[in-house]
Amino acid sequence: MAIGIFDSGVGGLTVYKTISEHFPKADIHYLGDTARVPYGSRSQETVIKYSLQCAQFLVENFDIDTIIVACNTASSYAIDNIREKFGVNVIGVVEPGAKSAFMLSANRKIGIIGTRATIRSQSYVKALQALSPGISIQQTACPLFVPIVEEMLIETEIAENVVKHYLDELINKGVDTLILGCTHYPLLKGVISKIYPHVSIVDSSEAIIACIEELSVDTLQNGIREIYLTDESPAFETLKNVLAGGLASKKVTL
Ligand code: DGL
Repeated sequence: MAIGIFDSGVGGLTVYKTISEHFPKADIHYLGDTARVPYGSRSQETVIKYSLQCAQFLVENFDIDTIIVACNTASSYAIDNIREKFGVNVIGVVEPGAKSAFMLSANRKIGIIGTRATIRSQSYVKALQALSPGISIQQTACPLFVPIVEEMLIETEIAENVVKHYLDELINKGVDTLILGCTHYPLLKGVISKIYPHVSIVDSSEAIIACIEELSVDTLQNGIREIYLTDESPAFETLKNVLAGGLASKKVTL
């Protein structure tokens, strides 16, 4: 049995990297829907439709027992639909991320950042409130973070200025823990920690490891690694070298 991971595009490779490093013998098939990225500016209906097609591709083509919805936007809108339709384990990034933040925060003031769609969905807010109804939550969308990462402007003054633009107000409200609610944002973790060293940062991909272990997913396979894309993408090629060691990708149509 294998693990299937999908994302709207390149960002989910942050999740791929964490999982492949942690479970070197797991068979992992990654699908990046590069033809239709970004999901973060689309409607709920479209995100659900695309997410179901991605999951279907993985289930139909590989011996998948666990689907990891690496995309925060897809996790926010489509996780229940995927769980209903496919008889496999489905792990999203929202609940694990919320749980980690809840455990890390000392003052119970948590910040959430993500795409416009993820913030609008209130998915992280609902997940945190389910853990503790009185918790203080601040959230904001950071739409410029994705292009900054895709253009590899990560360690530049531009990145620092954009981070301050979006985060100063939120952090000044006393947030001690920040959830990176978008797959691209872990690549900006260094810049964010440099500007706000007192804030704990939650990268949901790390929280997923615990879920895989809790579900006793069989991760002792042949270490097969495959990457599928729905279209060519220069951003994907650049980040693939950083996050997936230059593994070759294959093109598919959904
Ligand atoms: N993968 C998306 C997410 O984590 C970010 C990119 C997009 O908008 O599709 O929300």
